Amino acid sequence: MNIGDWLKEQMVSSEAYDAEQLLAGFLDEMDRGLSGDASSLAMIPAYIGTGGTVSPGKPVAVIDAGGTNLRVGIARFDESGKIELSNFSKQSMPGRDKQISAADFYNVLADTLAPIKDEFENIGFCFSYPAVILPNLDGRLLHWTKEIKIPELVGKHIGAGLIDALEARGIFGKRVAVLNDTVAALLAGLAQGQTFDASSYVGFILGTGTNTAYVERNENIGKLEGYLESGAQVINVESGGFNEFPRGPYDLQLDARSENPYGQAFEKTISGVYMGPIALELLKALAEKGVFSPSGAATLSSLNELTTIHIDNLASDNGRDTGPLSSDSFSDADREMMKTVFNGVVDRAALLTAVNILAAVVKSGAGRDAALPVCVNIDGSTYYKTFQLADKVQAHLKTMLEKRGLHIRCIQVEDAPVVGAAIAGLTAFH
Ligand code: BGC
Repeated sequence: MNIGDWLKEQMVSSEAYDAEQLLAGFLDEMDRGLSGDASSLAMIPAYIGTGGTVSPGKPVAVIDAGGTNLRVGIARFDESGKIELSNFSKQSMPGRDKQISAADFYNVLADTLAPIKDEFENIGFCFSYPAVILPNLDGRLLHWTKEIKIPELVGKHIGAGLIDALEARGIFGKRVAVLNDTVAALLAGLAQGQTFDASSYVGFILGTGTNTAYVERNENIGKLEGYLESGAQVINVESGGFNEFPRGPYDLQLDARSENPYGQAFEKTISGVYMGPIALELLKALAEKGVFSPSGAATLSSLNELTTIHIDNLASDNGRDTGPLSSDSFSDADREMMKTVFNGVVDRAALLTAVNILAAVVKSGAGRDAALPVCVNIDGSTYYKTFQLADKVQAHLKTMLEKRGLHIRCIQVEDAPVVGAAIAGLTAFH
């Protein structure tokens, strides 16, 4: 049996896809979402532009509610634009391991903000979940992703809930700006982008989840209700929801067992929480086809879980923990087979990621001049840490950009969600 051909039949290979067709589908869904038609892309206006200026020295509270961790603290920018952080605390994202109530969630936030209440007026709240942003910069949660379990908060205004929780403790006069983490990443890229005359900005995240933000042009903004008077504004694409592309039987099988079956199709194909589980699904199927040694096949069949990190450590031979894959029951040939399968998963993720980034660049209408590239700030551990993923994404991007005469510069900003949330908290209420 030729494993490469088999993976392609299961749609787990970049060769199973036509990049041009994927791009056209993405752009189409973006247009539909922007004009309010039914679309798998939410295209949420952020009510934030790229023109705000931060006052050096002014403190702002920052909440970074990410897929895995919750971080809270105080940030300020110095004269040179460098961020200084203080009083930061970090804990697991509440509601990730077990279901909690809305009150539990706000208590955690209020508990961490209360001791630093005199240090700030505004809060920049980086909320890494799909939320419709209101003109007052509050955010209404559409649905949870990343397997977070706080059902009471769905449909609720996240910022107003926080202000209520603070007021219940006698803490008054605070304002909160809620923004998506991709919007934060985009804002965090502004300072670097200005140094190379960026013509526009994209924030892209590939970590526990995936998503993209870009700057929509003035002429299209008019279609958006309540657009910013200043013109261009940032759009949170919610690209993890994209579903106008075919997946294979094992993707669908895994998806059916997830917290939100058939939602977030794109995210379930490329992001950190899902690549390991997809590989396991394929490995189990191959075990039944007699591709592995008998002892290896038995171990695979009994496995309930395989994280992306464990199989990635195996694929890259980095000597780190490979979890259940370190079992003596596997032969060298078994391990080679596992590497090939994971390589297929990563190969597909890389093509889809490149198409996603390109769609945002094309939609921005910028980057046509080599001297004025689009600044793409990429964040997320899955993008940077998965074996060969970033290189493959860049190779696909290079070909596709050249074909269109478009120019981008990819950057990485340390602590991008925190930097972007601080910028939003400091600039949003002027
Ligand atoms: C969420 C997005 C978020 C992305 C990256 C997705 O699961 O829906 O809002 O930007 O993850 O963290």
